[in-house]
Amino acid sequence: MRTIFLIGFMGSGKSTVGRLLAERLGVRFIDTDEEIAEKEGKSINEIFAEDGEAYFRELETALLTGLPESNAVVGTGGGVPLKEINRVVMKEKGIAVFLDAPADVILSRLIYDQSRPLLKGDKDKEIRERLSIRMPIYLEIADIRISTSGKTPEEIIGELIACF
Ligand code: S3P
Repeated sequence: MRTIFLIGFMGSGKSTVGRLLAERLGVRFIDTDEEIAEKEGKSINEIFAEDGEAYFRELETALLTGLPESNAVVGTGGGVPLKEINRVVMKEKGIAVFLDAPADVILSRLIYDQSRPLLKGDKDKEIRERLSIRMPIYLEIADIRISTSGKTPEEIIGELIACF
């Protein structure tokens, strides 16, 4: 099985769905944020605050480059597809599944979230602005697009597996 990269905005369910999907397929689950936080010994918030976003983006690219080409499900940070090199690496190594959710659903999921350094101000505005910039990129790179709105992780996985 080629590596499956779950892409999409913050709060689209990549980690939850990815973990379950990997379990179902009997392969490894890798969450890029978790790997980075563990390697750096600090939270994503701390990395952004102390080292800057550019440094975090370098860590993301370095991590992606080292990932396996098979038998893994990867939950990517929402900003991963923004860099061309990352898109090239994901295409080379596997397939990209876009977990799609509208801005109001994302807002409802992240309204009390404190762990996203890019959502520290007016969350509604930040989500809408970033999502509109990112949407064409997510769509362009997606091999499969799944709408997650109103669905349970189980339903999403069922839909996804039916695509293979
Ligand atoms: C980011 C998404 C986050 C994390 C960081 C930046 C982004 O991951 O990588 O806060 O730019 O969209 P999730 O998509 O898992 O929330």
